[in-house]
Amino acid sequence: MAGFNPYLQKSSTTLSTTPYQVTFLPANVTIKVTPEGLEHNPVGEKGSILSIAEANGIMIDHSCGGVCACSTCHVFVKQGLDSCNTPTEDEEDMLDMAPGLRRDSRLACQCIPDGSQDIVIEIPGWNRNLVSETPH
Ligand code: FES
Repeated sequence: MAGFNPYLQKSSTTLSTTPYQVTFLPANVTIKVTPEGLEHNPVGEKGSILSIAEANGIMIDHSCGGVCACSTCHVFVKQGLDSCNTPTEDEEDMLDMAPGLRRDSRLACQCIPDGSQDIVIEIPGWNRNLVSETPH
């Protein structure tokens, strides 16, 4: 599910114009992000951490479809937080409902790096989809 929430404030966002890297922990998977790659925007805000993760097979829960209406995409930005857009009041309101809130907490669907730094994201344990199904 993807879409946008017409009631949300728009954050001031600068999309990356140069390549940068996003590392997802604890899997320790590093994705090279290019400006062209941001055109493929499966879910969340364009250029968001959630969009980058989804486009590269990294699973982050996103119950509302990336429209800032839940807090299931809560992640920690362990490196590069300064290069990300400022959270809107709507994002902060949703984060207030997230478990384990920290200074580096962001909603992956709303957090958009500008590409000036490499980013390290930690996906909290409760957000990891650990379901493993065996074929029937
Ligand atoms: Fe619901 Fe990000 S997926 S707030």
